[in-house]
Amino acid sequence: MKTNVLMVCLGNICRSPLAEGILASKVDPEKVWVDSAGTAGYHVGRPPDPRSIAVARSHGLDISNQRCRRFSPLDFERFDYIYVMDQKNLSDLLDLATSPEDAQKVKLLLDVLGTNSEEVPDPYYGGADSFEKVFQRIDAACEAIAKNMGDNGKR
Ligand code: 4NP
Repeated sequence: MKTNVLMVCLGNICRSPLAEGILASKVDPEKVWVDSAGTAGYHVGRPPDPRSIAVARSHGLDISNQRCRRFSPLDFERFDYIYVMDQKNLSDLLDLATSPEDAQKVKLLLDVLGTNSEEVPDPYYGGADSFEKVFQRIDAACEAIAKNMGDNGKR
């Protein structure tokens, strides 16, 4: 049985596509399935933001084949872990949860680093440096997730 992990942000074009690509690069694809989605549907069907594609590429990752989709309540059944980028994503998903089991799956991504409710800031209106900062925080969190998965991780 695979472990299924979903990364969620608002638009599914900046932060969660990076989180999907970064975590996928650190785990065994035979054992872990990583996907991403947005709470909003503004960009459905589109590839990630060119600035996210560029920062990923600068770190050796190709996320250009990803396509934006909106979070569906069915995702509570499909996924074991659902990581969100900020408090608004968290409250939006908790509003859609229909059981305590659903709600327990949803966690702030950076909480895996033991930070106190730190958010991955939305880089949409920022410059290239905001995308690099976002990459670094997400990378640290994904490293911790992959390590916690033990044998499921690549290293
Ligand atoms: P994301 O960033 O949630 O990290 O994908 C955003 C992308 C698009 C918009 C907002 C945030 N938007 O308003 O279109």
